[in-house]
Amino acid sequence: MRVVVTGAAGQLGADVVRHCVAAGDDVIAADRATLDITDEPAVRAFVADARPDAVINAAAYTAVDACETNRDHALLVNGRAVGWISAAAADAGAHLVHVSTDYVFDGTLDRPYREDDVPHPQSVYGVTKLAGEQAAGAAATIARTSWVCGEHGDNMVKLVLRLAAGDGELAFVDDQRGCPSFTADLAPMLRRLAVDRAAGIHHVTNQGVVSWYEFVREVLAAAGADPSRVRPISTAELQPPRPAPRPANSVLDNHRLRLSGYPALRDFRAPLAELVAILS
Ligand SMILES: NC(=O)c1ccc[n+]([C@@H]2O[C@H](COP(=O)([O-])OP(=O)(O)OC[C@H]3O[C@@H](n4cnc5c(N)ncnc54)[C@H](OP(=O)(O)O)[C@@H]3O)[C@@H](O)[C@H]2O)c1
Repeated sequence: MRVVVTGAAGQLGADVVRHCVAAGDDVIAADRATLDITDEPAVRAFVADARPDAVINAAAYTAVDACETNRDHALLVNGRAVGWISAAAADAGAHLVHVSTDYVFDGTLDRPYREDDVPHPQSVYGVTKLAGEQAAGAAATIARTSWVCGEHGDNMVKLVLRLAAGDGELAFVDDQRGCPSFTADLAPMLRRLAVDRAAGIHHVTNQGVVSWYEFVREVLAAAGADPSRVRPISTAELQPPRPAPRPANSVLDNHRLRLSGYPALRDFRAPLAELVAILS
């Protein structure tokens, strides 16, 4: 496969590039300096020149709290630019895989979210990511994921390992639940969906549901530290409160993958142990 990867220097993009190269693909990796996806003519020219079979868009404005005050920029990167990538991919006959998020939901449902549940984002980030899903179009793969961790970029695993090295008290919220998802496992599934040209929304997460507090306990245990160092708190106790609301229920049912016969991604504890070993 000949594949363009946008956002190639990001946490997920870097592992998508690495995995596609390892799988023998012809990879055209575009970090932000190479291709700013908000430059419509540049997007059109870049994709036309590359003549790819697939485009995997891992570029996004992911600073969730900053999105609240940078609404126009968030909408440009996460929404409108996705439409330009989609049009350029269609012109080249390439299949688009676009990455989206659990934040398109309000988190009030009392069961895991399926692909056909009605989105109702509560944050600017979520609103703009939903706009991106709509701009990607019906022919694209929309891969919604959650709580992403990987070797590249900042994430909860790295934060906890840093905090564990000190002797301060750790406090994390116990009233937001989700599925931690690891780029080492997401990347192969994104590639597979690209190869299969699997149209429509797909929830793609590792298995295993935890609160952030429970996840931090798992990270500490994986690092050989004492899990009882972390204390559970509620979102209401967070000081200062976060500008952007987070869904209380971020659990994405990987219903569509199951229906289509794809194997479930591993329980998150397996890639967590691998990542901790790499980072330690
Ligand atoms: N992280 C999570 O917990 C999470 C959860 C659910 C879904 N997702 C989704 O997963 C995808 C990948 O996220 P991630 O965790 O890998 O985020 P990330 O590390 O922030 O990567 C995003 C990349 O996009 C780049 N980018 C930003 N604006 C751009 C532009 N105008 N043109 C080209 N590139 C641009 C960023 O470059 P700069 O660093 O230079 O800005 C960065 O390298 C995103 O679609 C995100 O919405 C993430």
